[in-house]
Amino acid sequence: MSIVVTGGAGYIGAHVVRLLQLAGQKVVIVDDMSTGSHDRVPADVPLIELDIAAAGATEILAAAFAEHEASAVIHFAARKRVGESVERPTWYYQQNVGGMVNLLAAMEASSVPKLVFSSSAAVYGQPDSGYVAEKTAQEPINPYGQTKLVGEWLARAATTAWGLQYVGLRYFNVAGAGWPELADTVALNLIPMVFEKLCANRAPQIFGTDYPTPDGTCIRDYIHVKDLAEAHLQALAYLDSGRNVFDAFNIGTGNGASVREVIDLVGEVTGLDTTADELPRRPGDPALLVADPALAASELGWTASHDLADMVKSAWEGWPQAPRHTAAH
Ligand code: WQD
Repeated sequence: MSIVVTGGAGYIGAHVVRLLQLAGQKVVIVDDMSTGSHDRVPADVPLIELDIAAAGATEILAAAFAEHEASAVIHFAARKRVGESVERPTWYYQQNVGGMVNLLAAMEASSVPKLVFSSSAAVYGQPDSGYVAEKTAQEPINPYGQTKLVGEWLARAATTAWGLQYVGLRYFNVAGAGWPELADTVALNLIPMVFEKLCANRAPQIFGTDYPTPDGTCIRDYIHVKDLAEAHLQALAYLDSGRNVFDAFNIGTGNGASVREVIDLVGEVTGLDTTADELPRRPGDPALLVADPALAASELGWTASHDLADMVKSAWEGWPQAPRHTAAH
C-alpha cells in the first residue's frame, strides 16, 4: 500500500514525504515539476510527472493509484501566488479546481478512500476579528483563496456522494526548514523575500506601516514547516481512526508576529543590517490573521512546537545565497 503525495517535490510536500518515509510508509509522488525540484525526490520514491489539471490526467492518476495500491492521497499540487491569482483567475481555477476535480474522479474510480487536502487560511479572506476559528465565515478575497474553498466543498461533496474520508488543513504562514536541503528557496513569502533582498545587499521592504496594529505592520501566524508536515501525518491517523467528525482544521500556532518583528529577528539571526524600506500597503493584505488552533489540538492531537526563531534560523541555514554558503564554495 502506498500514500500518494501530489506536489511532493515541493517545499511543503517534500517535508511530508520525508516524514512518511521515516514512519515506514511507502510513498509515490505526483508532480508536474513546474516549481518542484528533482533534488527533493528521494531515489526510492516513484515520481509520476503529471499536470493533474491536464486533459487525460484522471485516467493516468487512476492507473497510478491501482498500480501502487494507493491507500490515501495527500494533495498539495496547486498554484499558490495570491497576486498571480488576481491577474490570472481563470488559470487558477483551471489549475486548482480542475486539478481537484480530476484527482477526486480518479480516487473515486480507483476506490482510494482517504484524502488530506492542503487548504489555506486564505479561505477566511479579511475577517473582522483577525483571530479565526474553523467556524469563522469563509469569505476569500482573491481567486487563490476561492479555489482552496471550492476544493474543500468538492471534497466534502465526495464524502456524501461516495464515502470519501477527507480532512482539509488550513495553513497559516509557513516558514522554516525541517532539513536545510528541503528549505524554501523561492522568494514568494516574507522571510525568503527578506533573505533575497539582504543577499543582494538591498534593503528589505515593509508593505504598509499604517495598519491598526501595535507597530503599524501586518500581523501573521507563522508556522514551522516541520510542525505543518507533522500535522499531515496526524490527519492521516485521524482518518484511520474513523473519528473524523470535523473535516477542516487551522494549522497555526495561535501566536501572531508583525512584519517588523520578523525582519528584526532576521537581523538578529543573520547579523545583517535589516533597516527596511517602508512602502505603501499591498492590496488585499489583512492587518491581522492568526489561527485559533484549539480544534487541531483537541481532535488531531497536534500542536506546533517550533517558535519563530527556529523558523528564521532554519530557513537561513537552508538559504542557498546565504554568505556562509557562498563563502563555502
Ligand atoms: C506576509 C506579510 C505582506 C513580503 C501568503 C499567501 C499564501 C498562503 C499564506 C498558503 C504581508 C508582508 C511580505 C515583503 C512585506 N500560503 N510582506 N514585505 O500574504 O500573509 O499569505 O501565505 O496558503 O501563500 O496567502 O504571506 O509572506 O506574502 O506576506 O511587508 O517583502 O508580510 O504584506 O503583510 P501572506 P506573505
